[in-house]
Amino acid sequence: MQNQVDGHTPTGLGLRSPEIPKERSFIDPDSGEKIVKMGELTFPPRKVWMKTYGCQMNYHDTQRILSHLSELNFSATDEVEDADMVLFNTCAVRDLANQKFYSHLGELKHLKKKKGENLVVGVGGCVAQTEGKDLVKKYEHLDFAFGTDVIDQINDMVFRVYAGDDKFSINSWDRSNDFSIETKVVHGTPQAFINIIKGCNKYCTYCIVPYTRGKERSRRIDEIVRDVARLVEYQGIQEVMLLGQNVNSFGKEHDESLAELIMALGPIKGLELIRYTTSHPYDMSDDLIEVHGKAKKLSNHLHLPVQSGSASVLQRMNRQYTPEHYLGLLEKLRKSNPEIVLSTDIIVGFPNETQEEYQKTLDLLDAAQFDFIYSYAYSPRKYTRSARMEDFLTDDIRGERLRYLQKYQLGIQEKIRAKMVGKTFRVLVDGQSKMKGQTKWKGRTNCNRIIHFLPPEDQSELDLQWNWVDLKVTSATALSCQGEFLQTYGKRLNTL
Ligand code: SAH
Ligand code: SF4
Ligand code: F3S
Repeated sequence: MQNQVDGHTPTGLGLRSPEIPKERSFIDPDSGEKIVKMGELTFPPRKVWMKTYGCQMNYHDTQRILSHLSELNFSATDEVEDADMVLFNTCAVRDLANQKFYSHLGELKHLKKKKGENLVVGVGGCVAQTEGKDLVKKYEHLDFAFGTDVIDQINDMVFRVYAGDDKFSINSWDRSNDFSIETKVVHGTPQAFINIIKGCNKYCTYCIVPYTRGKERSRRIDEIVRDVARLVEYQGIQEVMLLGQNVNSFGKEHDESLAELIMALGPIKGLELIRYTTSHPYDMSDDLIEVHGKAKKLSNHLHLPVQSGSASVLQRMNRQYTPEHYLGLLEKLRKSNPEIVLSTDIIVGFPNETQEEYQKTLDLLDAAQFDFIYSYAYSPRKYTRSARMEDFLTDDIRGERLRYLQKYQLGIQEKIRAKMVGKTFRVLVDGQSKMKGQTKWKGRTNCNRIIHFLPPEDQSELDLQWNWVDLKVTSATALSCQGEFLQTYGKRLNTL
């Protein structure tokens, strides 16, 4: 093992402390229930309620936390009233996410009052990384806080709480040489998130992520390939999402690259689809663009955040590229893979954004022809450089600009989506939804568009969950797309 430290198991999100006992489980002969012992403490079956905010990275971390906690006899519940432990996995990227978390945490005071010692409350994630110490001081009903790099120590922390330790907050960074981490999947679906790089070194002037997620650290290609092959063979995984704050920086410290990783994953038999997120345009290499044309299993969708169409705003954001460079990348990508579908992130109302600068972003939307966008009004964040910039814009102007931009994009999107009608797409069915009183199946295309469809008329009872099906698009608007069922391939495609 590459990064074994003092004989302890290497993990990517914090080493477990050597002095805390390990979990041992057995079946109670009287009740037949599973009991876990950790040192002198007994853990009967308990329930945990978790609330997750933020990006896919956080949702993935939540899965990892739940997987650890299952070893401590916790199972997840959707009913907060039934919970023995409540955990928040927080996001700090915009004030809105922040505020939601603070109000949820505040509301929990009543439940804690009612349940007393029988309820443990913890806060993890990006807010806890920077504010954890203040949080435990300020909120009486909060038992502990933990940052983003100590997730693999969750059972040790829970042990400390049940052992009666004082309130605590842990936000240390894992300083081992490599980032080595095995994926844990607890949801039983064919889709898995795979962490390939953590942290971010880009320091865009508006962004708090480098402060909440630390420095960039990549896993090794051979470890990831082994990890994915294992998930495909033993856990039925067919689709992977390679995750990181800036996956285009992947492997820099080891002379490896995302382009090489994607090519190395290709030969895994039974793996059908590879997606990755999120990218930074600065690191979008020619090799990677070429891979979009030749890697058969790579998704035809790419999310490439541009943030603004104005060169001067991009400079103030420290994005390190111009709108021309960005549009040049899109051109190369479309040449490499004519099927590619592109999406982006936009921030409107960066400090002192002028009307002309804002207009440049609308122009970029015209030039780029995105399939969809995520757009946000700028929100000043503690620790960031832009929060210290003088700013004459008002929230009203930001709101107005955001609403207009969203409407503008919908006009563009509608025309792009209309081109889908009549075409056939293969999708992995991932659930059902109710639409105008009808229950329809839904699935995501390779290029990341959701299509809703009815089962064939004579087979309305057919269970299509996690089937690969072919659908012909019958209608498409800017936001939703309907299809007609053509055929199913069952639950496995088994592409070589
Ligand atoms: N690592 C990713 C995602 C970062 S956060 C990336 O680099 O693209 C996701 C999005 O939130 C960003 O792309 C940006 O559009 C938005 N965002 C980040 N900080 C923000 C802020 N202070 N105000 C408004 N939006 C912000
Ligand atoms: Fe934030 Fe920029 Fe890093 Fe993305 S690349 S996480 S926006 S600092
Ligand atoms: Fe939010 Fe942290 Fe993700 S700040 S966007 S949860 S990395």
